[in-house]
This record gives sequence, C-alpha cells and structure tokens, in this order.
Amino acid sequence: MNKMVVNDALEFIKTTFHGDYSGHDYFHTLRVYKMAAKIAEQENANLTIVQLAALLHDVDDIKLSPETHENKDRAVGFLNKHGISKTTVKAICDVIDEVSFRGADSVIPETIEGKCVQDADRLDAMGAVGIARAFAYGGNHNRVIHDPGIKPTLNMNADQYRNHVSTTINHFYEKLFQLKDLINTDTAKEIAEQRENYMRNFISEFLDEWDGIR
Ligand code: ADP
Ligand code: NI
Repeated sequence: MNKMVVNDALEFIKTTFHGDYSGHDYFHTLRVYKMAAKIAEQENANLTIVQLAALLHDVDDIKLSPETHENKDRAVGFLNKHGISKTTVKAICDVIDEVSFRGADSVIPETIEGKCVQDADRLDAMGAVGIARAFAYGGNHNRVIHDPGIKPTLNMNADQYRNHVSTTINHFYEKLFQLKDLINTDTAKEIAEQRENYMRNFISEFLDEWDGIR
C-alpha cells in the first residue's frame, strides 16, 4: 500500500493516543497493525483494507472518543483526506465495526479482512503484553488487583460487559481466557495458544503467592 498513507496514519494515531494510559496507546495500535498484516499475508486477505482498518480501529473507540464513535468521524475523515475510494472506506468501516469484544454479543467478522484485524486486536490482549495492559487498564479505572470475595461474572452480554465493575484478576476469567476459542484464523490460533498458556501460568503463580503457597 501507499507508504505515505501508512506514515500519515502512524502520525495520526500518535497524536490521537497521546496521553493514554488505559492500555490503548500508540504502541497497541502499532502492534495490532504489524500482527494483522502478518496474519493477512498468511490468510491471503486484502492488505490495504487490513492495514488501514488496523491502524484506525481504535481512533473512534466508544470509550476514548464517544462523540465520534457512531459515525467514525476520525477514521472516515482521515481516509477521505487521503482520497481512499468509497468502497474501500466502507470495507474498512465494516472491519472496525466488528472488531470489538462485547462479551457474549461479540461477532464473528463476515470478511477475512475483519477476521485478521479482530484476531490481531485480541492477541494483543493476551500473553505478557495482555497481562501488562490489563493491570494498566485496572489502575487507570481505579479497579483493585484482586479480591477473593468478588467472583467473576461469566456470559455477560454487551451492555452488562460494558457496565460491569470487577477486579483485574476477574478480567482474566471474564474476557482474556475466552479469547483463544474466539480466534478466527489458524495463523492466530497457534499464537493464541502460547499466550493463553503464559497467562494461565501467571494466574496460577499469582494465586499461589496470594494464598501463601509460594
Ligand atoms: P479493544 O482493544 O478490543 O478495544 P478493550 O477496550 O476491551 O479492547 O480493552 C483494552 C485493553 O484493556 C485490553 O488489553 C483489555 O484486556 C483491557 N481491559 C479491558 N477491560 C478491562 C477490565 N475490566 N479490567 C482489566 N483490563 C481490561
Ligand atoms: Ni484495540
């Protein structure tokens, strides 16, 4: 794809996410962009759509930019400014619409491009990076690390999931341990399995230390 558009998008997200400490920083988007492109090459997906959707997937996120969320003003504005065709803009918006985890209401993307970007975004919530992001998010949202008296809530719908207040350790059961089975592509599945094991070991070590076993 046109290198200039990618470079401009990288600059755009750098400015957009400046000052974010909730786990949605510039480097999150950068990792999703690289991982989505890697998956897309293996899966023979349209690289332009995957790259641009990955780069722009969080700029109109409901939590970060509620006023532009509905019409994706930031993403669409960027794409229009760069002369991207109407059909491609529509395809990119469809991918962005389907990307988010919404508890039991999460969707399986219709296109291979959507599957690649969703997998890349989910992989970034897993493994060592995923653990770091979860605790950064928890601290940023004033959540406690762990409280044995608060049990995880499973099978929440989109609304319940969005409004639910819990502990960061519970987030592993409420979202992160579900991700492996929601991965779409074989390329990402292999990586997801490694990252899931790493998180399971972390939680097991954490709880042992908590309980004074280690
Ligand atoms: P996405 O990148 O799909 O938009 P989210 O906005 O749901 O993902 O989450 C961004 C990051 O913050 C992820 O790493 C996610 O696991 C973490 N996160 C989201 N909600 C919580 C929570 N309640 N507790 C801890 N971490 C969370
Ligand atoms: Ni994201």
